[in-house]
Formats: sequence, C-alpha cells, structure tokens
Amino acid sequence: MNGENPAVRAAVALAVTALAIAAAILLLGDAAYMWVKAAHVVAIISWMAGMLYLPRLFVYHCDAAPGSELSETLKLMEHRLLRVIINPAMVLSWVLGLWLAWRGGVLMAGWFHAKLALVILLSGLHGHLSAAVRRFAEGTNTVPARRWRLINEVPAVLMIGIVILVIVKPF
Ligand code: HEM
Repeated sequence: MNGENPAVRAAVALAVTALAIAAAILLLGDAAYMWVKAAHVVAIISWMAGMLYLPRLFVYHCDAAPGSELSETLKLMEHRLLRVIINPAMVLSWVLGLWLAWRGGVLMAGWFHAKLALVILLSGLHGHLSAAVRRFAEGTNTVPARRWRLINEVPAVLMIGIVILVIVKPF
C-alpha cells in the first residue's frame, strides 16, 4: 500500500513542509527570513545526522556475513535512513539555503561562494553514499571497512568548514 511506502511518506512530508514554508513566507512578510533560517538549520541537522551515521552502518555491514540476519537488517536500515531522512533533508537544505541566499542578498559574497563549494562537495559525497547503499543491497560492495571509517570523517570536516564560513563570514 502506498501509505506504507517510506519513499512516498518522505515525498509527502517534503511537500507538506514546502507548503508550510510558502505559507510562512506569504503570511509573515519580513519575519519569514528567520523562520526559514530556523527550518534550514533543522534540515541540515537531519542531513548531517544521516551523513555521519550511514558510513558507520557500512563499517558494521562490511563485517556482517552475506545473507545473515544482521546483513539484511543493515540493508533495511541503510535504505530507510537514505530515503526517509537523508534525501528529503538534503533537498530541503538546498531549497531553503538558496532562498535565504537570494532573499539575504549574499549571492555575490566570498564566504557564500566558499560555503557553496563545500556544500557541493558534501552533496557529491551524498551521491557516493547513495550509490553505496545500492551496492550493499545488491551484495556487490568492494570497499573495505577501514575505508568507510575514513570516509566517515569527511562529512564532519566539511561541516566544520561550512559552519565557520556561514557564522564567522571571514571574507
Ligand atoms: C545546501 C546548500 C546550502 C545553502 C545554499 C545555504 C545557504 C545559507 C544561507 C544564505 C544562510 C543565511 C546566512 C545568514 O543569514 O547570515 C544559511 C544559514 C546557515 N547555514 Fe546554510 N546553506 C546550505 C547548506 C548548509 C549546510 C550543509 C550547513 C551545515 C553543515 C549549513 C549551516 C548553516 C547555519 C548554521 C546557518 C545559520 C547561520 C547564522 O544564523 O548565522 N548550511 N545557509
């Protein structure tokens, strides 16, 4: 049934959030900026939580015997984490962030370009992890646990850079 499909639920949640934000923009006028910024921060917290957790699940998955109960459970967890949390949170982060940049008039600021570069790298990593979820599901992953441990550090490093750029605005 459609209502039980996590991808459909995530799409519905995304549409409801987008409508709520459009309504806030229409009803709140200038105050909408801070509400959208709050929603942006909530979206990036969700995105980052997933991006930090998924490679950790891959580390456990590498050690699980193929076809075992643990391996099947991890497949389900990875699939749901990606579809229900990480993908919608990334879309929302981008939509809200670009609206903030346009409304805040920072599209030409140096710090914003640097932040954008790091966020594009983060989105590339998102694509890489998403492809890995598919490979783990098919049982064709060849990346060893020790490499996933290293990859696990990348979103944390990017996050630190992004937060410094957007808060300190050094240039
Ligand atoms: C996806 C693309 C993104 C775009 C286009 C974007 C853009 C923006 C813009 C224009 C602001 C408002 C800045 C201000 O009012 O001073 C903002 C706020 C913020 N962004 Fe993003 N952002 C994105 C993703 C991220 C990510 C991935 C993170 C963290 C990992 C992040 C962290 C923050 C934080 C913490 C704030 C609040 C800053 C403050 O109030 O001083 N953003 N973002």
